Amino acid sequence: MKLHIAEMLRAQKGEHLSFHTPGHKRPGADITELSYSDNLYAPSGVIARAEEDVAKILGAARSFLLTDGSTAGVYSMLYALRSADVRSLAAPRFSHPCVLHACEVLGLEYVPIEQETRCGIPVQPSEAAMECALKNADALLLTSPDYYGFFALLEAARALCDGQKKPLAVDGAHGSHLHFTRRHAGKFADMWVDGVHKSLPALTQGAVVSAKGEWAERLHEGVLRFRTTSPSYPIMASVEYAVKYPRNEKIEALSEAFKRRHGCVENDDWTKILLPCGARCAAANAFFEQNGVYPEFADGNYIMFYLSPCTKESELQRLSALVDFFGRGAVKSEAPAGSIPIYSEKR
Ligand SMILES: Cc1ncc(COP(=O)(O)O)c(C=O)c1O
Repeated sequence: MKLHIAEMLRAQKGEHLSFHTPGHKRPGADITELSYSDNLYAPSGVIARAEEDVAKILGAARSFLLTDGSTAGVYSMLYALRSADVRSLAAPRFSHPCVLHACEVLGLEYVPIEQETRCGIPVQPSEAAMECALKNADALLLTSPDYYGFFALLEAARALCDGQKKPLAVDGAHGSHLHFTRRHAGKFADMWVDGVHKSLPALTQGAVVSAKGEWAERLHEGVLRFRTTSPSYPIMASVEYAVKYPRNEKIEALSEAFKRRHGCVENDDWTKILLPCGARCAAANAFFEQNGVYPEFADGNYIMFYLSPCTKESELQRLSALVDFFGRGAVKSEAPAGSIPIYSEKR
């Protein structure tokens, strides 16, 4: 598939004397909006074509490239909701802080959806909890998948929202790799964020926010307000590249096999491997780092290894050998008490 932004950047040839921003004056790919490079604020060239392709892939009426992370996408979605007279938003108790901050900035009442925790992990809200909160709110926002790799009950959420004629937004900061599957936020939500930089090969801060139907124009108004007017071309090019990056079913299967082999938490998402370490969490994390392996986080109970379609089989094999070496038996026996929860829909 054609990479519109990257090809435009690659086509720059010959002398380029920079009398424009950025101030480092050695632009390379880091150019600004020039006659040939289009304009994110009002795209009509390569950025417009990239956004159209991305929307098609994600199943959206319109998609907007973001170089300011999923945070800008969440703010833009909430702006769109506010513009449609939404005054209160039901969202899980353990939502990312940007959801609460956006509510605060936009004057939306935040109606928390209660979440249990099991074995130290927040459980995705039950249907009953969503229904209870949505009775007192004008719209629903869910996070799917969450940081621990569990999907929200998106079918149930869609049915609830349809029943009450209320919009559904999804924070998919950790789910952009799912667009190949029926678990992707775009299959259920009116508006959603794909945090492309987290689970697909994009530069940090690269993301996309998308909408269906009548929400597209409202979301457009939102991104005009919350997105930078100096977007990074390397980030935009990387987002287009990442969304068009092919699925890697081999590494998906290897991840699931790894989880089974090492007694990892049975979550829903192959990109997030949660190794229960219990009291040895800090020691295990130090051991991995001493061996040049850097996990996403160690939360005192679990170590999380974040994969992407670019993770190599040999890298997973190295991790597997290290987990074995650290002592699988000892790690498992000190995992938090209770059974490992399986508490959300399966793919
Ligand atoms: C669930 C969730 N939503 C939103 C965000 C914000 O994303 P970004 O850092 O890309 O702005 C994060 C970041 O970690 C997140 O975990």
